[in-house]
Amino acid sequence: MDAVREGATPVGGRARRSCLAVPGSSPKMLEKAQGLPADQVFLDLEDSVAPLAKPQARDNVVAALTGGDFTGKTRVVRVNDWTTEWTYRDVITVVEGAGDQLDCLMLPKVQTAEQVVALDLLLTQIERAIGLPVGRIGIEAQIENARGLVNVDAIASASARLETIIFGPADFMASIAMKSLVVGEQPAGYDVGDAYHYILMRILMAARAHDLQAIDGPYLQIRDLDGFARVAGRSAALGFDGKWVLHPDQIEAANRVYSPRQQDYDHAELILDAYAWHTSEVGGRRGAVMLGEEMIDEASRKMALVVAAKGRAAGMTRTSRFEPPSA
Ligand code: GLV
Ligand code: MG
Repeated sequence: MDAVREGATPVGGRARRSCLAVPGSSPKMLEKAQGLPADQVFLDLEDSVAPLAKPQARDNVVAALTGGDFTGKTRVVRVNDWTTEWTYRDVITVVEGAGDQLDCLMLPKVQTAEQVVALDLLLTQIERAIGLPVGRIGIEAQIENARGLVNVDAIASASARLETIIFGPADFMASIAMKSLVVGEQPAGYDVGDAYHYILMRILMAARAHDLQAIDGPYLQIRDLDGFARVAGRSAALGFDGKWVLHPDQIEAANRVYSPRQQDYDHAELILDAYAWHTSEVGGRRGAVMLGEEMIDEASRKMALVVAAKGRAAGMTRTSRFEPPSA
């Protein structure tokens, strides 16, 4: 796997606050995506591409990866799922044509660990055959149906190539027969909480148990930026690392929502400095101390590390400093 990149988050290695969907059938969009400030682009061969356009889309994606410039972005291609007739040719065409310009493949509608293993094996064969380093290309697994969610623990540990588990709300809502057509919003009639809470938490637990990132899926009302930020804010609050964006206007909101707030970033850096000082010889070797009105200890340091790492990865600068108490 690649060395940790600039912009990396503490879990999983690569920045994925905003994951931009780009239909592989549109050379115009494949071109435009290169100049947009998304952390990740995924060039799609699946549901945004009509069946008749899929062969041409494979070639477009290879051409964009080899001839384009995606510097600073995580480069991903979403292939079709294993229940179709397209998957093997998607993988072979894209990896043989542009494997050295590819960071991950995204596998949609994953239902079992074996489906991840199958992709891992196929990738390994292609890498060997064409002389690419074996195991460098990662896998992103989309959980989009009830069977996938039930098996998510096994899926999350199926391959060392796995980097993220992704929630696919649109297909998931169809899979469980949720009584709504508005992706990401609460189904009418459900007024006692968040109808997605269990699914998000289940995915997050499986991801974290295996040191993977957890990514939230699309919000289809692309003109409603407040709605996007509200829905993204929920998964960000739980700990998700990022969300899909379907339109350039959603990118800035995703990058903001999945970065810490300035005051939280400042506070995290302050906790780290204060804890380092108080536990040191000169600070009195103390493991539980007061920082202002709050008591901090080793667990506070761990929490602060997560927030500080996300802030640093997002390029934030702190606006306050720790002053050791004068003797
Ligand atoms: C994404 O693929 C979704 O189904 O929401
Ligand atoms: Mg889907």
